[in-house]
Amino acid sequence: FLIGLLGALWLLGSGHGEQQPPETAAQRCFCQVSGYLDDCTCDVETIDRFNNYRLFPRLQKLLESDYFRYYKVNLKRPCPFWNDISQCGRRDCAVKPCQSDEVPVGIKSASYKYSEEANNLIEECEQAERLGAVDESLSEETQKAVLQWTKHDDSSDNFCEADDIQSPDAEYVDLLLNPERYTGYKGPDAWKIWNVIYEENCFKPQTIKRPLNPLASGQGKSEENTFYSWLEGLCVEKRAFYRLISGLHASINVHLSARYLLQETWLEKKWGHNITEFQQRFDGILTEGEGPRRLKNLYFLYLIELRALSKVLPFFERPDFQLFTGNKIQDEENKMLLLEILHEIKSFPLHFDENSFFAGDKKEAHKLKEDFRLHFRNISRIMDCVGCFKCRLWGKLQTQGLGTALKILFSEKLIANMPESGPSYEFHLTRQEIVSLFNAFGRISTSVKELENFRNLLQNIH
Ligand SMILES: *[C@@H]1O[C@H](CO)[C@@H](O)[C@H](O)[C@H]1NC(C)=O
Ligand SMILES: *[C@@H]1O[C@H](CO)[C@@H](O)[C@H](O)[C@H]1NC(C)=O
Repeated sequence: FLIGLLGALWLLGSGHGEQQPPETAAQRCFCQVSGYLDDCTCDVETIDRFNNYRLFPRLQKLLESDYFRYYKVNLKRPCPFWNDISQCGRRDCAVKPCQSDEVPVGIKSASYKYSEEANNLIEECEQAERLGAVDESLSEETQKAVLQWTKHDDSSDNFCEADDIQSPDAEYVDLLLNPERYTGYKGPDAWKIWNVIYEENCFKPQTIKRPLNPLASGQGKSEENTFYSWLEGLCVEKRAFYRLISGLHASINVHLSARYLLQETWLEKKWGHNITEFQQRFDGILTEGEGPRRLKNLYFLYLIELRALSKVLPFFERPDFQLFTGNKIQDEENKMLLLEILHEIKSFPLHFDENSFFAGDKKEAHKLKEDFRLHFRNISRIMDCVGCFKCRLWGKLQTQGLGTALKILFSEKLIANMPESGPSYEFHLTRQEIVSLFNAFGRISTSVKELENFRNLLQNIH
């Protein structure tokens, strides 16, 4: 009883003499994460409802399909920036590639970009071209379209280094069998990667340090303020770049906290939510204010990818576009589900307005966009330096997905040639880009859903 009484007195005392209940752990992580987000006119609550109830369940179903679960990736590319990568020896870091007979033939055969019919046309056309003549029997329009498909050189639109998936080292990975979760890869090695990403690639003056590990003492408040006042002084695009990276970082940490290795016996492993881990990364007090900012950036990233998906709808609506695996019925059902999801996304009322980006002076805007692209490419290459294969896999996939989203948002081809209805054949996405785009968005969608779970788990903790 005495202990209870003392506890009650202490609680009263810590409430600054008022009758206020003390802040819960949930409030410390989420109190700033509500209402309107900076740099856009959208609020967190609308996103939560939209994502958790309308989008998330359907997206999960889509990502379980054959088309989306097999991702081809070269995990053996050497790190281009330094060579002392300590490979993480943990079993949870390992990635199990597919046996060659597991992957549907329709996915493996590189020629199937479009329908079988379209591919035959492409072959005919290529042959005709080699012979120096274009097949007269094709309508002029078809000839033009077909040549576009084969020749599309959109490398200047790409935000990621094209992964060499033709390399003999590239392998198919079943994403469902290699889920993103806690691997034990953390500490100095993981910090080094994020450090390089933030330090070298975020348009930041060298002299200003990001408050790195907020748990470490000695990170004075003033230093942090300098950091954010620097950020405030940036143009909206450069600030956005930083926020996207920070959002990606936050999202990955939400996954690792939600799929933490809680228990391991020789019989089984148990994965689940680790509240302490979550708080260490997002609690406003423990992170000296950084945590809630990170969560806001996660929502910002969500909005950017959501907008890209709504914009690319006409590309997927083209009648000849297929999610080709070779299983006709399943492929058609999949495309229907995909379009349903994209229409739902399009109906979202508070889309981000990317027209505010790279507006301004044309020459200036062009240079800025080019800068943006180069910086982002660098980040996709840094992923080859991640010592843990599982983390490298998901890091590559998520950066490629974000890169694809940026390519969509800022592609002039898409803007110029894709009016809301009519299909355009100049804009092109590879299967690789499509798979990464949707899986990356699926990851952020999962994070937003997991935030609801953490909010509930932290509700009654002080
Ligand atoms: C949860 O995470 C914390 C800190 O990251 C760790 O010390 C703790 O052992 C974890 N809890 C469980 C049940 O694994
Ligand atoms: C790319 O990253 C490397 C290594 O971090 C760095 O030296 C280089 O300056 C970066 N380039 C750009 C354009 O960010």
